[in-house]
Amino acid sequence: MEFKNITFVKEGKIGIVTLNRPKALNALNSETLRELDSAFDALHADKEILAVIITGEGKAFVAGADISEMKDLNTIEGREFGILGNKVFRKLENMGKPIIAAINGFALGGGCELSMACDIRIASAKAKFGQPESGLGITPGFGGTQRLPRLVGEGMAKELIFTGKIVDAKEALRIGLVNRVVEPEQLMDEVKALANTIAAQAPIAVKLCKTAINRGMQCDIDTGIAYEAEVFGQCFSTDDQKEGMTAFIEKRDKSFKNS
Ligand code: CAA
Repeated sequence: MEFKNITFVKEGKIGIVTLNRPKALNALNSETLRELDSAFDALHADKEILAVIITGEGKAFVAGADISEMKDLNTIEGREFGILGNKVFRKLENMGKPIIAAINGFALGGGCELSMACDIRIASAKAKFGQPESGLGITPGFGGTQRLPRLVGEGMAKELIFTGKIVDAKEALRIGLVNRVVEPEQLMDEVKALANTIAAQAPIAVKLCKTAINRGMQCDIDTGIAYEAEVFGQCFSTDDQKEGMTAFIEKRDKSFKNS
């Protein structure tokens, strides 16, 4: 698949999407968002891909939505741009595969928001995070007002969003915005190792775990527990449940078929 602003490669069971507009610090214009949309469709459709990594080329993960494209938008166009970004990020968030953000550098505005639509965030020690939109006269537009408080709590999210303050990877770890901070040169190796560990588990179980967690975070606990009971039951209709448990009993390596 050929793209202008991103690259998409497969390494075994892993799909790697790299934002590749380094001269603009990988800023998200609508063309890049549409390319991501197509790449996410392709990742979703590819049954061999069991985990996905999103990263950026150069010194930025993503330095935000493209300010030069947004500058002259009117109300309707601004809303449409926000709807496009949110549609693409929700597609990523709802994809039935684990998504890991390998945050190599600046993750600002739409970049921080892209990382938050991923399931797991691993940051390079060089990464920097923030929602600087209020300094540009706008609100976060690709989910920042919704996902940041869910991740780091309301007070911390409000402080970051109201001030536009940029924080380093250490602070992002302290407030729970990222799972781990690693040395820059180790970032991709660590993230690929994590992706491969996840890809070695039963894929349908991982997918159902993701759905149960995502749904459960948005509803009351009784509804969430009822949903967990549903997906737990569904697992027993899969070949991989039989294989996982039989391999355990027979003390042999398991071989999952994603079925
Ligand atoms: N949009 C468009 N272009 C951008 C950009 C963005 N978000 N971020 C960086 N660039 C461009 C710069 O204009 C510059 O282009 P030129 O070389 O043509 O001048 C190039 O990328 C390199 O940037 P800098 O020279 O500024 O690099 P730096 O190392 O000095 O600074 C930075 C890096 C601190 C990240 C700085 O570029 C910056 O502050 N960028 C903007 C960050 C920002 O405000 N992001 C939020 C955008 S709004 C948003 O995302 C809304 C939403 O929620 C959807």
